[in-house]
Formats: sequence, structure tokens, C-alpha cells
Amino acid sequence: MEEEFIKLAEQHGTPLFIIDHDKLRQNYRVFKENLPNVQAYYAVKANSNQEIIKTLFNEGASFDVASYNEFIQIYNQIKGFKKAEKDFFIWDKIIFSNTIKDRQTLGKIKRYKPLVTYDNAEEVDKIKEHCSTAGLVLRLKVPDIGSQIEMSSKFGAEPADAASLIQRVFDNGLAVEGLSFHVGSQCTNFDNYTAALQITSEIFNEARKKGYELKIIDIGGGFPAAYDSAVPRFEKLAKIINSEIKRLFPEDVEVIAEPGRFMIATAASLISEIIGKARRDGKIFYHINDGVYHTFSGIVFDHWIPNFRAFREGEIEVCAVVGPTCDSFDKISVSEQLPNNLKLGDLLYTENIGAYSIAAATRFNGFEGAKILHINNGK
Ligand SMILES: Cc1ncc(COP(=O)(O)O)c(C=O)c1O
Repeated sequence: MEEEFIKLAEQHGTPLFIIDHDKLRQNYRVFKENLPNVQAYYAVKANSNQEIIKTLFNEGASFDVASYNEFIQIYNQIKGFKKAEKDFFIWDKIIFSNTIKDRQTLGKIKRYKPLVTYDNAEEVDKIKEHCSTAGLVLRLKVPDIGSQIEMSSKFGAEPADAASLIQRVFDNGLAVEGLSFHVGSQCTNFDNYTAALQITSEIFNEARKKGYELKIIDIGGGFPAAYDSAVPRFEKLAKIINSEIKRLFPEDVEVIAEPGRFMIATAASLISEIIGKARRDGKIFYHINDGVYHTFSGIVFDHWIPNFRAFREGEIEVCAVVGPTCDSFDKISVSEQLPNNLKLGDLLYTENIGAYSIAAATRFNGFEGAKILHINNGK
């Protein structure tokens, strides 16, 4: 792989963000094999590159979108479908998982009969007024203890409010199609899933008893990417989820999920180049041509811990790796174990950087960010 990386960097320049579509397909298949009864909606927010969407679309994936623009990215894949097929795809394979949608967005998606989430009474009224064709999914607040990114402080209805929020929808002449939750991103504490499924099942079964025909449970995202060997195995989580769903829900429940990170994190690598080297307070600072404002945005927005490898061997020292902008905040890492003999023009590479990286990159200071290269594409 290292030799191939060097060749690609010579051919295409740096910084170079390499998306491996074989790995992407593999991640999708692993997900489906281990959770065979769960419909996988790729969370486009993790990385909205259109080629990723295309590959997953060809694998048969469904999609979780957060905005009208993300919706249109999926719509572009089905533009050529006949009307009935298109309508079916939108209803069956796209969910608007953002619990708060502005009025304009609701107005624009009304004609598509979308499936949308909500978690508060105001949103029900807004949906009723601006998008009365929608089917609704109530998002619940669930434990997200220990997850890399917590969600429940901003999203999700208190379980105690669920019954009245469900009733409000039906009273308004709309329908609740199901319940959803998100246990937090990169969730390595699997108890969060068991607790969330327990909470969801109580509300689901109670609603059915009252005659509300809920159909779907949406188990959200959070499935941990295998960044290193300390991350508990997805296969173990899948077993827990499968058995808990069987235990807690009626047989006819439709289960969907919104994996983002799991699909794309391990399918991309970044090659960057050393553009400056200085000793500051005794520590080597490698200045590279990508940084926190660009592909390493996950350090800020995703609490992500980066990894760096060099292509040259040498005496290892604790070094800093910093980005190209004028901002002193643009420090990617102040403690990387790297050879101390790296030179200007030498390359570094970072693996598992596919999720929440280029998705949130800016063009701060006039730096364009990494060039995107697709490999093993188009099969
Ligand atoms: C509603 C929703 N669904 C799915 C995801 C994807 O989560 P993950 O990348 O942890 O799978 C997110 C991430 O922010 C989200 O907000």
C-alpha cells in the first residue's frame, strides 16, 4: 500500500484524499451481513461526495439526508426512474433525519411525500402546515454515554413525552410511521443500544396497544468504525442488536439504521506533504499542506484523534504536526511519534479519515484542501 500511495502522490500531487470504493463496498456488505434484517440508510453527512453515494446506491443502500441539498444528491441518482419507481424509492429509501427542518425545506419536499423525523410539538405543527404529505418518525432521547459525539443534549424527545407527541401527530391528521434514536457517534459502549432499544420498545408497544399502527424502528447511527484494535467489534454489537430486536419487538417491525461513519471512515486515506520544519521550544514541528481547517476538520467537529505515518524510517521523536494556515489553532497534533529526520517534500499518510473530514472542510486562508481521488471505482 505504501508504494502505491507514493506513486499516487507523485501522479496527482498532495494533499491527496484517496477514497477506496472496494473498502466502501466491503463496509456496506459487512453491515448487511451482520444485520440482515436492517435496512441501511447511509448518513450522507459523514461524507457527501457524490461518487460515494453512487457506489452505495449501486449496492442497494438507502439514504439518510439532513438537508434539501443532500436530498437532491440522492434524487440525482433516480432522476431517470419512472414516476412510480421514483415515488417508491423516495418513500422507501430516503429519510430526513434532521429533527428540525426549516419551513422552506418542508415546502420544497412536500411534493415528494417524504419520511421525516421530529422530536417536539412545534415541529409537528410546522410539518402539518408546510409538508402535510410527510410520514413522521419520532426521535427519542436515549443514553449516549461514552460515545465520541453525544447527541442527546440537542436531539430527541423525552420518553415521558412520547405518547403525547405521537397523539398530536394523529390528532393533526398525519401519521407516525415509527420511532428513532441515535446513541451518539462512534458508540463503543454497547449498553447504549440495549438501553435505547428497551426504551423504544416500551413506547412502540404501548402505542400499538392504543391502536396506533407504528411500523418502523430506526436505530440511528453510532456503529463504531474500527479505527484501532481497541474498538469493540461491530460483529459483537450486531449480535446484541439482532437478539434484542427479536426479544423486544413484534415480528412485523421494520428496522432501519443510519450508519455514516461505519461505512466511510475506514475507506479513505490522506497523503500530505511536509512543507516546513522547525524546532519550537525543543520540539520538532512538521508543517504540512493540510490542516484543521481542511481535511483534519474532524479534530474540531468530530473529536477525532488523527494518526500519522511516514514513508521513511528514522529515530522516533515526539513531534508536532501542524497545518498550513496562519492560525496557531491549526495544530493537528502536538504529540506524534514520528522519525526526526523527515525533510521538506517528504510525505505523511493518515488512514481511516473518510468520515467527518472533507465533509466539514473550509477554504480558510485560500487553501483549496485536498484533491479527491477515487480508486477501485466503477465496478
Ligand atoms: C440523525 C443522524 N443519523 C445518523 C448519523 C450518522 O451517525 P454515525 O456517523 O455515527 O453513524 C448522524 C450523525 O450525526 C445523525 O445526526
